[in-house]
This record gives sequence, C-alpha cells and structure tokens, in this order.
Amino acid sequence: MLPNRWNLPDLGFGVGLRSVHYDYILENFPPVDWFEVISENYLSQGGYSFYALEKIRERYPIVTHGVSLSIGSTDPLNFTYLERLKRLADLMDTPWVSDHICWTGVNGRNTHDLLPILYTEETLGHIVKRIRTIQDFLGRRVVLENVSTYVEFAASTMPEWEFIARMAEDADCGLLLDVNNVFVSAFNHNFDAKEFIDAIPADRICQYHLAGHTHKGTHIIDTHSDHVVEGVWELYRYAYSRSGGRATLLEWDEDIPSFEVVHAEALKARAYRDNAHAEGAGSGSAIVSTQKSEQQLLHAFANEYD
Ligand SMILES: [Fe+2]
Repeated sequence: MLPNRWNLPDLGFGVGLRSVHYDYILENFPPVDWFEVISENYLSQGGYSFYALEKIRERYPIVTHGVSLSIGSTDPLNFTYLERLKRLADLMDTPWVSDHICWTGVNGRNTHDLLPILYTEETLGHIVKRIRTIQDFLGRRVVLENVSTYVEFAASTMPEWEFIARMAEDADCGLLLDVNNVFVSAFNHNFDAKEFIDAIPADRICQYHLAGHTHKGTHIIDTHSDHVVEGVWELYRYAYSRSGGRATLLEWDEDIPSFEVVHAEALKARAYRDNAHAEGAGSGSAIVSTQKSEQQLLHAFANEYD
C-alpha cells in the first residue's frame, strides 16, 4: 500500500452533491464523509445552490470536480474560467481540483461532452504543458480523470493507460481513477481492464470514482443511472489493493434515488476496500467474503440512520 506522493487526505467515502438532495442534507446532515461538487454549478456564487453549498461546507469537506477544463483542446486556456475556479476552490478549501482527460470543444464552442483524446507524443506534450500552467495558476494539485469512451482514434500511437501514466509523470499531476470508466471503455474497446489499472502509477492516484452504467449488449454507456455492477466493484477492490487509502466517491446523475440509497451505495466501497487490505489482489475467495461484510456494513449503515 502506498500513500499518494503528496500526502493528500483520504477523505473516506463520499457522494456527488446533487440539487435534488439539498433539502434532505440541510435538514438531516447525514453521516457522509465528504461531498464532491460539479464546479461549474457554483462558479457564479449565487442563488439557492450556492447558499446550500456554503451551509454544507460548514459540516463536510468539499472537493471541486470540473467538466470544462478541456485540457485536450487546441483552444487557448480560458483564464476567465480558471480565475473563477480558483476563487471557488479557495472558498471551499478543496484539497485538490479535478477535471477530465478529454476535450469538450474547439473554436470557443462547448459541446458539453467529454470527448476522447488522440494518444500521440504531440498531444502528450500539448496537454502536459497546459496542466503545468493550470497547476501553477490554481496553486493546487490538479487531479485528472480517465473518461468513458465509445470511439477512439485510429491514429493513436499508444494505449490510453500509457498516455495517462506518462502525462501524470511529466506534468507532475494527480489522477482520479474512475473504475467504472475503465470497465466501460475496456468493454467498448475490448482491452483488459486490469492491464489498464496495472499501468497507472498508484502513488499518483488521489481519488476513486464509482458509478453505475447501462449495458446495451454490444456496448456500455456511462449513464450514472444505477447501482454499481459487480465487475466494477471487483475492479475497485483490485485497484485499491495497489493504492491503499484514497478518497472514494459515488456518482449518481440520472434516475437519482433518495440520498440514503446513494449513500448506502457509496458505503459498499468500504467492504471492498477492507477486503483488498485483508487479502491483496487476485484472490479467488475475495468476493464471497466481501459480500458477507457488505451485508454487515449495510446493517451498520441502517443503524446510523436510525
Ligand atoms: Fe467519474
């Protein structure tokens, strides 16, 4: 087990903050470890959303997670956006600032999609330079997430995992490993998810993401609309056995159930983490014992809410 190289905190098991849960959280202050917020929803620092966030910030650690950095775009960096992001990060005292390894638009147009990158030396040099600039500007560690993809460039000269590992080393940035995204892309592009995870420098992983997806038979869509599937939990346990204690976050963005259901899903991760600690990667008996402790954990969780 390796600590991350900057000793950034393991915040425990968090939930992505969504507006449908504001009232519940503000009335009940549930026993969740931390929240991740979509940065763009709070940049204006106004309205009920920001009021709710400020109240929540008084009780819980907050990490900002952006969707507009567009690190892979050829457009110049948007310093107006970065200034607003810095202000929000400072206000929330977020331990790191995260976004995605993708591009979202070009020529000033935002597609609002996390688009795949061409994995070449030229792209690598371009992105590394931009990450270094952003990290200096924000004065915080930038932590970047692998995305789910459905198409890839035939002109890529290296696999995604090699690109991410080299990018992190050359830019000296952190990584947010979304194990559901690894699972989704592995199925869509027919690669070995564990080979991906093995290539990622564990000491640069600062955070994990977990989420549900929609299996369409021929491909998987990263919908964040359901419970986490067993294969993703197993991949999380595998990744965790390499990295040890890292902040873990459950994302649920469509067909969002009650807060208790989302939080219970996040807490299942604890059982897989404990199992990774106890047995190490690759044990065939891991899943059986994990399921037992997961049940125990859910009972404990129910008691916490009583
Ligand atoms: Fe994610």
